[in-house]
Amino acid sequence: MEIRIENIIDVVKEASTLMVCSGFEVHDKGSRENLVTSSDLAVQDFLTGRLSALLPGSGFLCEEEDLNDIAGHEFIWIIDPIDGTANYARGNENCCISVALVRNGEQYMGVVYSPWRGELYWAEKGCGAYCNGKPVHVSYRSYEDGLLFTAMSTYHKDWARYCSDIIYDIYLDCNDVRRTGSAAVELCLIAAGYADLYFELRLMPWDYAAATLILTEAGGAVCSFDTGFPSLSVPSMVIAANNPSSCRRILDVVHRHLKALPY
Ligand code: IPD
Ligand code: CA
Ligand code: CA
Repeated sequence: MEIRIENIIDVVKEASTLMVCSGFEVHDKGSRENLVTSSDLAVQDFLTGRLSALLPGSGFLCEEEDLNDIAGHEFIWIIDPIDGTANYARGNENCCISVALVRNGEQYMGVVYSPWRGELYWAEKGCGAYCNGKPVHVSYRSYEDGLLFTAMSTYHKDWARYCSDIIYDIYLDCNDVRRTGSAAVELCLIAAGYADLYFELRLMPWDYAAATLILTEAGGAVCSFDTGFPSLSVPSMVIAANNPSSCRRILDVVHRHLKALPY
């Protein structure tokens, strides 16, 4: 069974035509911060239909509609139909489609497409990372010169204090803090050298499965609370940086504040 990254890119580009500028419905998923739009559902339906035709018998782990069918599959698609839905719902450009292909439990291919930013990132294991056809590489900045992308545990505000303490300590030693509202966009921006450091207390695999492959293929480093790679099946802390030593420094700050994960 052969799959080419170009096939995935074509499907993702076609799916992006469903990210319309107006006329979509917005609902919350149990809390006022956690939104889903009719476009999220339309993009996911389109992607699952077209990608299962590309790789018959493949499994899926998708954000919407509790789609979790990952047991016993050689190939698994991990999909966030729109990462940055709160931005999308407001017409803010910082949103994207994120599609990862995992083979035998390992990251294999990843595509992150932000149509309104005009950025199409992709990577294939062992083949480097690209944006709009050009190779991308992480920055060579030091931790002290680094810009940190991060978030305050938007969907679990009861954990926000852990985040603010950790972010405060990192902020004291690095250059500054940024937040776009799309984890996948932010990890890709680090891959391309526009920022350098990343911390989020808890993300879902669909937020980072594609973008962390793009980041590591661009020369970056990624880890989770236990120093290993974030899980490709359950929620994880995500720490990332332009190099392993900055990644380790963020992890050291985390460990100063947290002896165990709160989830
Ligand atoms: C969210 C975004 C955001 C991150 C949240 C994610 P969603 O994804 O990636 O940047 O801080 O943790 O859940 O809900 O817009 O798909
Ligand atoms: Ca997401
Ligand atoms: Ca989403």
